[in-house]
Amino acid sequence: MSDHNTPTSLESGSHENLPARLGYSPLADIEHKPRLTDTDPKAARRAERQVATMFVLSILLVIAFVAAYIGIDKSTIVYIPLFGEVGALTFALGLCMGLGVFLIGAGAIQWAKKLMPDTEVVAQRHEMASPEEATEEAEANYQRGKTESGFAQYKIIRRTLIGALALFPIPLVLMLRDLWVTPAGSPSPDAILSKTLWKKGERIVVDGTYVPVKAEDLPVGGLISAVPADLQEVEEVEGNLNARAKAAIIVIRMDPSDIRSQQGDGWDYQGILAYSKICTHVGCPIALYEQRTHHLLCPCHQSTFDLADAGNVIFGPAARRMPQLPIGVDAEGYLVAMSDFAEPIGPSFWERG
Ligand code: FES
Repeated sequence: MSDHNTPTSLESGSHENLPARLGYSPLADIEHKPRLTDTDPKAARRAERQVATMFVLSILLVIAFVAAYIGIDKSTIVYIPLFGEVGALTFALGLCMGLGVFLIGAGAIQWAKKLMPDTEVVAQRHEMASPEEATEEAEANYQRGKTESGFAQYKIIRRTLIGALALFPIPLVLMLRDLWVTPAGSPSPDAILSKTLWKKGERIVVDGTYVPVKAEDLPVGGLISAVPADLQEVEEVEGNLNARAKAAIIVIRMDPSDIRSQQGDGWDYQGILAYSKICTHVGCPIALYEQRTHHLLCPCHQSTFDLADAGNVIFGPAARRMPQLPIGVDAEGYLVAMSDFAEPIGPSFWERG
């Protein structure tokens, strides 16, 4: 058995008897093959220089990193073969940082492989089982506790306690049931999510400012996050904060010739389309719109919807298209809804009921 508290002193460069000084013993059945650096002092010095060179280069790269950060203009673009045109500052910082870290790692590996001791050793461990006296004492304590608590003596208490503990999880299971069973008489999730503040003639206003939107205010390629004009009153007067979560929409404009299909005939207004802003996967709000492809990307799990093709899912875990809101303009030229959504907004969990 080794004494792990014995202090050890390592002389620089000397690995002889190192395992023994650390309290380890060499593995008898594995033959140790000395490396060149173990037997040739010149090779050892060469390896030492290689490792030190890598660390010095890493230091220089850190200095180069700082110099590049200070000296290179952010807007400078350079052409790098294989990469094409890239920002000079980004490229220099990445190169210095990457190479610097690589050289520290490579130097450490070289050091470990060529210069650190590589003798196969085993550390003897002390007995894991407790001493017999400790085991007997624990057993005696358990028996004394059993007797003093009366657990063995009072049979009725023991049995009723076991019964109480066995039945205790039942209320928890019943409460879990409430997560997927709608109480009798209350509206189903489908009905709740099918009714929003949108209705025929409801003005579309900018989310946050409540400014109504005219069709000519929205250029081709533009997007706004919008809500129904009534939302302000519903939130401030009635204190209903759920209404926003159901009624939030995005309004985008594309060239009418780019629209391949919609969820209803003429649901756009001169290329302006409105879709729910709530992802049909698990309900994240979405406004990441790529105007050239007309794709709407959900940042949560990367579901992608094609807004030029009826909001259909083209990628990701969402199982249902993004609901479209039919829109038009009122007598003053402001964008308005033509009805509520034709299908429930948000996650599609109710379909499993
Ligand atoms: S919530 Fe949109 S992809 Fe999951």
